[in-house]
Amino acid sequence: MTDNTSPLIQPTTDRALEPAEPKPELQAAAPSILLEQNNKPAESQNSAPKKDYALITGASSGLGLAFARILASKKKPLILVGKDEHKLKQISYELKDKEGIDVRFLPIDLARSKDLPNLPDKLQRMGLKVDVLINNAGFGKFGPETHIRYEDALNMINLNCRATLAMTKLFLPGLLKQKKGAIINIADTAGFIPVPKLAAYAATKAFVINYTEALAQEVAGRGVKVLCVCPSPMSTSFFTKADINTSTHQHLQQLTDPESVVEQALTALKTGKTLIVAGQPSFWMKIAPTLMTRSWLRKIGFGLFKN
Ligand SMILES: NC(=O)c1ccc[n+]([C@@H]2O[C@H](COP(=O)([O-])OP(=O)(O)OC[C@H]3O[C@@H](n4cnc5c(N)ncnc54)[C@H](OP(=O)(O)O)[C@@H]3O)[C@@H](O)[C@H]2O)c1
Repeated sequence: MTDNTSPLIQPTTDRALEPAEPKPELQAAAPSILLEQNNKPAESQNSAPKKDYALITGASSGLGLAFARILASKKKPLILVGKDEHKLKQISYELKDKEGIDVRFLPIDLARSKDLPNLPDKLQRMGLKVDVLINNAGFGKFGPETHIRYEDALNMINLNCRATLAMTKLFLPGLLKQKKGAIINIADTAGFIPVPKLAAYAATKAFVINYTEALAQEVAGRGVKVLCVCPSPMSTSFFTKADINTSTHQHLQQLTDPESVVEQALTALKTGKTLIVAGQPSFWMKIAPTLMTRSWLRKIGFGLFKN
């Protein structure tokens, strides 16, 4: 699953899946955490896992954090995955404290890690069963293709495409075996059209859309829901990280809040949808994928980032 031959894909030392350290008042309710810290899993390897968790990638900010907060408010136990250990730990404390649910966190660089294949086994050993997988972690880089660094482009493909595919492949068999659960893959409205100055990013999201739609069709009727969410531009740190100045682009003047995208995604999941455009897409973005020729689509894409 991981391309170990690429010099750009370095192994990282993934931290063990860490439970959020409970605040004093929660300690009594969470003895398993203390046992696990001593390397003795709370539940033996043979005992059936007792809880179903939602695993969210990129849970430390933006849309992933909104998923975490909203699912926590519905009392769903969580496994939060992301790069920034400190942020994940803080969020885990906060949600555990506020909602009284079990929250675990796993600091891991999904674009580079070679340890992903061991993740389902590791979770199972700890008695953590995942029934909802949200492949949300992703980033973009803005600029003419000649200005985008090769390493950034490759990282984008590794995170947006390869990690999404890897996590899906790792967890799907378990979900199909249980005949229940859901996979939500986060794409982008940019995935419907070629977007000059976001060429590689838009292409990674086209992959996510096609891959997820095909998968949904493949597993239809087997108890597992598969949903692709294409948010319109949201107010997250995405644009800063992508080097996009939102104030200079007309279509980025009104950004959707990530919470409303989460609510739309959860409703879509309930109603069995396969693909949704969430947020407040412009009229053109709404009809672009269905009614336009490729040459029109390229023009719309170019129009998005003229300056
Ligand atoms: N914002 C938008 O307008 C928009 C529109 C459509 C689709 N999307 C998609 O929505 C998803 C979430 O983005 P966002 O807007 O919420 O942006 P964000 O606030 O930048 O969140 C991205 C998340 O991904 C994590 N992440 C980045 N690189 C990672 C890596 N190598 N390994 C593990 N985690 C990593 C980040 O962690 P760190 O903070 O530690 O880096 C962060 O938690 C992305 O897939 C994005 O493409 C965004």
